[in-house]
Amino acid sequence: MGSPLPGPAPSDTMPAMPAVLQIDVVSIFPAYLAPLDLSLIGKARSDGLIDVRVHDLRDFTHDRHRTVDDTPYGGGAGMVMQPEPWARALEHVVGQRGSAASARPRLLVPGPGGVPFTQAMARELAAEPWLAFACGRYEGIDERVYEFAQEDLGLEVTVVSLGDYVVNGGEVAVLAIVEALARLVPGVIGNAASLVEESHQDGLLEYPLYTKPRHWRGRVVPEVLLSGDHAAIADWRHRQRLARTADRRPDLLHASSAGADVDVRVATAGDLPELLTLLYAAGTPTTMESLREGLSSSTTWLARRAGRLLGAIRVEARGDTLWLAAPALVPDLDGDDLARRLLDVAQQTAVSGIRQLVVDSPRASAVRARTYRQAGYRLGGGHWVKRCSRHE
Ligand code: ADE
Repeated sequence: MGSPLPGPAPSDTMPAMPAVLQIDVVSIFPAYLAPLDLSLIGKARSDGLIDVRVHDLRDFTHDRHRTVDDTPYGGGAGMVMQPEPWARALEHVVGQRGSAASARPRLLVPGPGGVPFTQAMARELAAEPWLAFACGRYEGIDERVYEFAQEDLGLEVTVVSLGDYVVNGGEVAVLAIVEALARLVPGVIGNAASLVEESHQDGLLEYPLYTKPRHWRGRVVPEVLLSGDHAAIADWRHRQRLARTADRRPDLLHASSAGADVDVRVATAGDLPELLTLLYAAGTPTTMESLREGLSSSTTWLARRAGRLLGAIRVEARGDTLWLAAPALVPDLDGDDLARRLLDVAQQTAVSGIRQLVVDSPRASAVRARTYRQAGYRLGGGHWVKRCSRHE
């Protein structure tokens, strides 16, 4: 029992150093976890920063065939993992640190029915002293194992999912989760600065990267990156991150683009009845039909406070122009601050290649005209137009 991986993992009986993150993995395919001995994780293991121990669930069976599964009670397809091998394996894992009641691993069970694994969870797990993973196979593990782990072994149990799809077992999830959390353990990544600007670390996706040569197969590196103007580069990168996040993961944007009490998100089909009501109240009536069509051709940002829909702006990129509908606000709002906020969100999320923003609103009220001017728009050709700077 213990780690079947080659390398310096200490034996099961060796007491762990307190500062080392101990990771126990129980699986019927221990060889699946072999990549944990490679690259950064392998180095972290040999540097004594992480102590990975892999256990074969079949070592905790008690029959000649080393059986770990049986048919489900109540019928149904496939097989279910039996509770007894799991109970014995988990007792063994927990027992490695003797009887110290405070020393207990946090148990993670990968499964498609779990809470989504995120960078925030990776940070949380990287701060734990001891983690144990139970890799299910077949249809899953007998439910009583979860109760046993919590009630009899006193473990905090978290079922965790890689995403909304099904893979054949928990091992591949353990590889992903351990890789994500191990790189956050102090000392594992040499250059801590590289952790700061990467995707998901602060809720945005990473900006695009370029290296030499400057000209490659007819493609050039964006000029701003060669300018030596660090402020312009930082600004360009930030805009790229916002644009990428808006394009690929609009669900992530609300937290970073809104103020403390206003939540700005992209509208989905479920928002349309409320949006229709808002547009009537704002004096710009339309139909469900056209809102539904708009969902596929454009992006609509919604601003809510305490769940109430307060405002909306529709944005559509055509060629080098980002067309904005006039921000629509509920009539009882004081001032036009939210219109300005929505214009800013729309501008921040302009994808690269956009040269101008145009608000399709020739007949703006005096208050709204001032908002457009303060946001950098000028009236021209019956529209409010704002040109993007060269580097945008
Ligand atoms: N096991 C099977 N599917 C899984 C998923 N999506 N995440 C984690 N573990 C799994």
